[in-house]
Amino acid sequence: MSTQNINYNDSFLSAFLAPSELESYNPAVAQAEKQLISKTGLGNDFLGWLDLPTKTSRDLVKSITDKAGEVRDKIKDGVLISIGIGGSYLGTKAAIEFCSPSFEELRKPRVLFAGHNINSDYLTDMLELVKDHEVAVNVISKSGTTTEPAIAFRIVREWMEKRYGRKGAAERIVATTDRAKGALRKLAKEEGYAAFEIPDDVGGRFSVLTPVGLFPLAVAGLDVAKLLEGAAGAAAFCNGEDVNKNLAGRYAAIRNILFRKGYTTEVMATFQPQLHFVNEWWKQLSGESEGKNGTGIMPAGLDYTTDLHSLGQWMQDGLRNVFETFMILKKTSKTMTVPKFSDDSDDLNYLAGRSFEDINEKAFQGTVLAHLDGGVPAAVLMLADRSETTLGQLFFFFEKAVALSGYILRVNPFDQPGVEAYKKNMFALLGKAGYEKQAQALSARTKDISI
Ligand code: PA5
Repeated sequence: MSTQNINYNDSFLSAFLAPSELESYNPAVAQAEKQLISKTGLGNDFLGWLDLPTKTSRDLVKSITDKAGEVRDKIKDGVLISIGIGGSYLGTKAAIEFCSPSFEELRKPRVLFAGHNINSDYLTDMLELVKDHEVAVNVISKSGTTTEPAIAFRIVREWMEKRYGRKGAAERIVATTDRAKGALRKLAKEEGYAAFEIPDDVGGRFSVLTPVGLFPLAVAGLDVAKLLEGAAGAAAFCNGEDVNKNLAGRYAAIRNILFRKGYTTEVMATFQPQLHFVNEWWKQLSGESEGKNGTGIMPAGLDYTTDLHSLGQWMQDGLRNVFETFMILKKTSKTMTVPKFSDDSDDLNYLAGRSFEDINEKAFQGTVLAHLDGGVPAAVLMLADRSETTLGQLFFFFEKAVALSGYILRVNPFDQPGVEAYKKNMFALLGKAGYEKQAQALSARTKDISI
């Protein structure tokens, strides 16, 4: 069992909530935990993610890493194009940015992403970029019908077939989708693509520890067994009905207490660029799970120190409806120190010999204290390092916290009915069969919003 690599420190919150308030949330956390574990709460047919860390079979991990090895041999130091959106994209992107070298050019092989936007320039440039490299494709969609990845896959598939022939392309395409339903499953069968299944009871934003994330991450060279092991470790300390023992329950309770006091937005603030996409993943997990029925904590992300020179002013002095969670890496992989210059013409010799991490720490401490003084409730989520184990713990911690928090808010954290509204309008406006009535009602209203 792995050690606890993440810690949540809420000791700075004393001016904003009394210990007795936290204790008073114990029953709410206990009830949410009970509902989750006994699978009696809302959305209880989507709780498969709870068991992924401990019940993912060795056979599945082996088949994922074997197939990833095969793909790596085929593309050598080339490119895997990973096609997907939302939960079929963000976890993989987050993990690669967290664990890999900072620049794509230093990663071998590289994973490039498509299908998370609708943009000809992006796709054209991507295909231009990969034309001199060996390429494989992983198309990921649980429903198998999502428009953005589906149309991107049409373009990429046509390109692959032109380059490698239909059979050659099929040997380089892996589909990750529902075991039976959806157009992608049908296509995979017809074309003979290798395929992985997304379990029925795991929703998109909770799916990073299924083949959705594990396969592309294994191709990228990450240790996916360690990711699962880390998540299993977190399951042990994010468990139980006591906010003093269940780290995820404690964080969920604090978010809800602050929310009810009018702090309706949570800013996840990072001080290391490797955490930017963990934030993006968390924003989806949290926003799509909680933002419904007219309630929900609005998740936002800031990258410090970059954003201290942008939104820092707002955070210090703006509307006091935000609380801040500082997500911090305790250890970077490398260290640089400020050199000493004999002439000290830039007046920086007072920093000579000090590491960037030391300076960043002072920026972090200075910001926490300034924001507390400015009336922003702040807590710190400390991550030990950039390892797969730590990230696995973090993924599970957030998943569990968001599930508990959703139950405390009395919403179903596992559906996303609001996402359908734009889709229905888009299908009607695109002329999809079955949407004729809606198309009529919408057409006059689009007049002034054309691009
Ligand atoms: O969390 C979710 O369920 C969504 O964000 C989905 O992941 C996203 O819409 C992509 O769906 P699909 O994998 O079906 O293409």
